Amino acid sequence: MRTQVAIVGAGPAGLMLSHLLHRSGIDSVVVERRSREYVEQRVRAGVLEQGTVDLLREVGVSDRLDREGLVHRGIELLFDGVAHRVPMSDLTGGRAITIYGQQHVVRDLTVARLATGGRVHFDADDVTVSGVDTATPRVTFTVDGRREELVCDIVAGCDGFHGVCRDVLPRSVRQLLEREYPFGWLGILAAVPPSADELIYAHHDRGFALASLRSPTISRLYLQVDPREDLADWSDRRIWDELGIRLAHGGWSLGDGPILEKSITPMRSFVCEPMRYGRLFLAGDAAHIVPPTGAKGLNLAVHDVYVLAEAVADWYRTGSETSLDGYSATCLRRVWRVQHFSWWMTSMLHRFPGHDAFEQRLQRSQLEYVVGSPAAATTLAENYVGLPWT
Ligand code: FAD
Ligand code: DHB
Repeated sequence: MRTQVAIVGAGPAGLMLSHLLHRSGIDSVVVERRSREYVEQRVRAGVLEQGTVDLLREVGVSDRLDREGLVHRGIELLFDGVAHRVPMSDLTGGRAITIYGQQHVVRDLTVARLATGGRVHFDADDVTVSGVDTATPRVTFTVDGRREELVCDIVAGCDGFHGVCRDVLPRSVRQLLEREYPFGWLGILAAVPPSADELIYAHHDRGFALASLRSPTISRLYLQVDPREDLADWSDRRIWDELGIRLAHGGWSLGDGPILEKSITPMRSFVCEPMRYGRLFLAGDAAHIVPPTGAKGLNLAVHDVYVLAEAVADWYRTGSETSLDGYSATCLRRVWRVQHFSWWMTSMLHRFPGHDAFEQRLQRSQLEYVVGSPAAATTLAENYVGLPWT
């Protein structure tokens, strides 16, 4: 098989890249390890930045997003039992976030690719990438017991944090920068109408909690837990009780109901520099991970492939490698801004085991400053809705 761009991974990064390239008349093939059903049902992110929504609209993949996405113009920060609204749109000239499940973004992009003849190979085993330091790199994989070889000009490593592409960068070339946090998030999806109109980020002595939603009938909630915790120890009753305690404020109460899905995710910050080696370009979680507190991972993945698609199109159009050469540095500038924001939100809102009273007072002071100062609130708001794209 021959294509111009071989894309490893059919997550938001890989599918969006394939779609953007198609719009520029560039052929690509997507190779995905999992089944289509699996990737379209994997429950993960839900917060889309203004820039992500604008791009989905611009490239014609927003019919369902426009119908079902929930536009949010503020968030609540809850501490000491009092909720404080951060009016994001007022502080950012009208920008907003949209709640729309990542699996719906993946489904919409898959439908768009297949409708225009896009080639997406699901259930591909043993994917290997070779020859990225030559003009004809190769991606090989097994489907239906057959070994296939894809010869291409460029490989896009969009295969997430546990993918194979990052390891193709020689150790002598790449630098991995990393922080682990001493906690994770237990996330649930529940068949119960959301109890609040806006997202509530709660700082509590027992740990962080977050109330989010997916639709008028589906809630999405998270609890800070020890990352080594066994999910089996968290009965539905225990989860609802703990959420009720951490999210309690005023006369507000949390409605409960059947839990449809639950999982525990560890939290880390991670960056691989550079994001390119020869003809291999990393994008999304393959190159960087942020803790979810800032709701940024999916948005950063989409930004990477937007930059990459432009650079690849420029190369085919002009023959100049200038844009491709600038890819890593351009992306890393935004990656580090988002790393800082996500680390800052995480540090401000979680309970750190081992923190003494001094650190707890600093945390409290930071929260009071953010809700009390329009300048500090604007810093949160403009990063949360997403700084302008390059
Ligand atoms: P992925 O979505 O991980 O896609 C990679 C794809 O590659 C997968 O389909 C995988 O199966 C495939 N793959 C892996 N290995 C191989 C291989 N060897 N060969 C072929 N295919 C392979 N982000 C936000 O912006 N907002 C949020 O609110 C948010 N909340 C989150 C909540 C949770 C609980 C979690 C876990 C994450 C959250 N994120 C959030 C992060 C977001 O989900 C990720 O950043 C996003 O999925 C990155 O997209 P991606 O396409 O780079 O990677
Ligand atoms: C959701 C996830 C996040 O990481 C976040 O900060 C806010 C909301 C969500 O899944 O709805």
